[in-house]
Amino acid sequence: MLTQAPKGTRDMLPQDAYLWQWIEQKEREAAALAGYREVRTPVFEHTELFLRGVGDTTDIVQKEMYTFKDKGDRSITLKPEGTAGAVRSFIENHLFAETLPCKMYYLNAPIFRYENPQSGRLREHHQFGMECFGGKEPTVEAELISTLMGLLKGLGLKSLTVHINSIGCPQCRPRYHEALKAYLGDRIHDMCETCQARFEKNPLRILDCKEEKCKQIVQDAPVILDFLCDECREHFAQLQSLLAARNIPFSVDPHIVRGLDYYTKTVFEIIMQSGREGLALCGGGRYDGLVEQLGGPATPAAGFGIGAERILIELKNQNLLPPMPSTTDVYVANLGADMKIPAFGFTQALRDCGVKADCDVAGRSLKAQFKFADKIGAKYVAIVGGEEYERGVVKLRNMETKEEKEFPLDQAAEQIARTLQ
Ligand code: HAM
Repeated sequence: MLTQAPKGTRDMLPQDAYLWQWIEQKEREAAALAGYREVRTPVFEHTELFLRGVGDTTDIVQKEMYTFKDKGDRSITLKPEGTAGAVRSFIENHLFAETLPCKMYYLNAPIFRYENPQSGRLREHHQFGMECFGGKEPTVEAELISTLMGLLKGLGLKSLTVHINSIGCPQCRPRYHEALKAYLGDRIHDMCETCQARFEKNPLRILDCKEEKCKQIVQDAPVILDFLCDECREHFAQLQSLLAARNIPFSVDPHIVRGLDYYTKTVFEIIMQSGREGLALCGGGRYDGLVEQLGGPATPAAGFGIGAERILIELKNQNLLPPMPSTTDVYVANLGADMKIPAFGFTQALRDCGVKADCDVAGRSLKAQFKFADKIGAKYVAIVGGEEYERGVVKLRNMETKEEKEFPLDQAAEQIARTLQ
């Protein structure tokens, strides 16, 4: 137990850090191009936020939250998704009173869900998310989807299709609920207990059930697109025109309902091309009622979230991971115990000049130092000691060409830094 991470969690190891940083850099750039700025919200929030925000009939709230009482007897929950925290922050910090739209993104925020761990499904995962507050036009969703597709393309992922749907608004959804309930009729008694409980309270959720017998029953259920009010229908049509104008591959999928209750009008997902069938690479949509529902002024909003772990699976399966960069440009080898201090000093001088440098910390022989330098992929080895040191020079060996060059000790760090540039 002691040396085993909790089920469904993963370490990000030092040798993989460059991949995360590479993805994060691309995410920062993509978000900045569309005017989104970073937000960081706490890892935990009051449980009430998610009960009210995500919805008390969702799987996330009913089955998956990490909830506990703190020492002050408050009910606290580890963030099971990023949007509710962003909305809470938007309201609490009165961002609604500033110039709108307010565009924010979170970078690989840790998200916790008590799920059955399997490939691509973890109990702690990390989400990059973009949220836009104060834009009612479908241009917002088009911007989010465009940015997302640009990001994924920039990472090398191609041939992706975004699946879109509209799940209506509080005006038109009740009519759909009635139609769905009429369709289900007596068959609801053949469905799972969760679906039966959702029948009266939130029938749309039934479409999200993962149980095979329930999935079969809802297969031919009426679709919400046939029940949209004029405003929702027009909004959805405009979004499609905006995406088509940008040549973004999309398909209308009336079965997407998403697993969170706050969505209105647009919902969208991109499905992974590899790994477990049907797993979403990312998901998002519009949530025009959420800010008001959580106590803020009525503010239209939309956003998406994408899991870093799923991006990595997709990149790996498609052989798109970049090679690991070398950690060391110059390895400084010492020629004996009395050269340890000058070698350390020279290593630091190189670092001061912006060169990735390293030296022996294990008391290795010269031969072993060279072997180590080779193993870590150092491009050069600088040799400190011997008759060169007595002559006041440092020898630099190119590990690939084996070419050697001497530098005067007092200027060696600057000159090597310039050579490497
Ligand atoms: P979500 O669809 O629940 O939406 O999650 C978004 C993404 O997070 C998924 O598409 C997937 O990449 C990743 N993800 C979710 N659960 C797991 C898991 N157990 N293991 C690994 N990765 C996972 C939301 O969370 C919404 N807050 C998105 C949003 C933002 N909507 C509007 N704004």
